[in-house]
Amino acid sequence: MKIVIPGGTGQVGGVLSRALGELGHEVVVLSRNGGPATAGVRHARWDGRSQGAWTGEIDGADAVINLAGRSVSCRYTKANLDEMMASRVDSTRAVGTAIEQASTPPRVWLQMSTATIYAHRFDAANDEASGIIGGAEPDVPGYWEFSVRIAKNWELAQQQAATPQTRKVALRSAMVMSPDPGGVFDVMRRMARLGLGGPVAGGAQYVSWIHAQDMVRAVCLLLDRDDLSGPINLAAPNPLPHRDFIRALRAAQGVPFGLPATAWMAELGALVLRTDTELLLKSRRVIPGRLLDAGFTFEFADWPTAARDLVGTAR
Ligand SMILES: NC(=O)c1ccc[n+]([C@@H]2O[C@H](COP(=O)([O-])OP(=O)(O)OC[C@H]3O[C@@H](n4cnc5c(N)ncnc54)[C@H](OP(=O)(O)O)[C@@H]3O)[C@@H](O)[C@H]2O)c1
Repeated sequence: MKIVIPGGTGQVGGVLSRALGELGHEVVVLSRNGGPATAGVRHARWDGRSQGAWTGEIDGADAVINLAGRSVSCRYTKANLDEMMASRVDSTRAVGTAIEQASTPPRVWLQMSTATIYAHRFDAANDEASGIIGGAEPDVPGYWEFSVRIAKNWELAQQQAATPQTRKVALRSAMVMSPDPGGVFDVMRRMARLGLGGPVAGGAQYVSWIHAQDMVRAVCLLLDRDDLSGPINLAAPNPLPHRDFIRALRAAQGVPFGLPATAWMAELGALVLRTDTELLLKSRRVIPGRLLDAGFTFEFADWPTAARDLVGTAR
C-alpha cells in the first residue's frame, strides 16, 4: 500500500512509519521541515495548512494517517493552546480538502484524535459506546475543558470533510509507550531512575496507555477492515491508577523508591519541565471497546508486562 503520514516525524509517526516501511508499504511522511529517507520511507514537504504540491502524494494513495499537531507537552499559555488547536484543526481540514479534490482518493483516512476527549472520571471506564465526553466535569480546573474542545474540533474537522469514497476513522489514542529516546516512556523511565517516580497527588487518577507494538497492530487492522469507521479507542484494556502504574514502572526498572509528589509539587515540576499538570492529574480511564469487538487481541494487555518489555528493549 502507499500510505501518506502527515505529521509523521514525531514519536508516534517514527514508530508507525518505521513499522509500516518494514512491512513493505510505501510510506510518505509529510513534514514542514523534511527528514531523512529510511527503508521504505520518504519525506515530502507541506505547511500543515494550505493545499500545495503535497496533495499529489494523497491523490492515488491507498491510505492517509494524519498525526500532525503541536506537541501538548508544553505550558498551557494562550499562545500554546491556540497553536495546539490550530495545528490540529487546520491540518485536518487541509488533509480533508486534499482527499475531497483527489481524482483517486485513498480508501481510508485514519485521523489522530485523543483519549483526552473523555471525561476525567474514576467510577467507570470510557468505551466508545457509553463513554462520557469531557468538558463539563464540575470538579476539575476550568482550563481542562480546552483540551476536550481541541479534541472535539479535531474530530469535527474530519467528520465535516466530504469524502464519500474514503472511510474515516478517528483514533482516540491513549499514551503510546515505545522504548524510543525522547518519547513519553523514556521521560517517565528517567524520572523513575532519578527517584522521582512516585505517585502524584495521591495517584488515584487512572492512566491509559498502549504499547507501541499494539498501536501498530491496531493501525494495521484499521487500515484493512472496511467495516470499521468513526471513533476507535487506541488503549490497552487495563488502564490503572497512577500509583499502580508508577509502581510497576519502578519494579520493571529495579528502582525501589519513588518520591511521592503533592499536586503543588507536581505544579512546580511541570513548571520546570515546561509542561502542564493536566497531563499527570486528569484521570483517563479508557478501554478499547470497538477493537475488542473487532476481535483484536493485545500482545500487551497489562501494564506490568508492557513495562518490563519496554525497559528491556530500551536498555
Ligand atoms: N504520543 C502519544 O502518546 C499520543 C497520544 C495520543 C494522541 N497523540 C497525538 O498524536 C499525534 C502524534 O503524536 P506524537 O507524540 O508523535 O507528536 P509529536 O512528536 O509532537 O509530533 C507531531 C508532529 O506534528 C507536526 N507538527 C507540529 N506542529 C505542527 C503545526 N503547527 N502544523 C503542522 N504540523 C505540526 C510535527 O511535524 P513537522 O515538524 O515535521 O512538521 C511533529 O513531528 C499528535 O497530534 C498527538 O497529539 C499522541
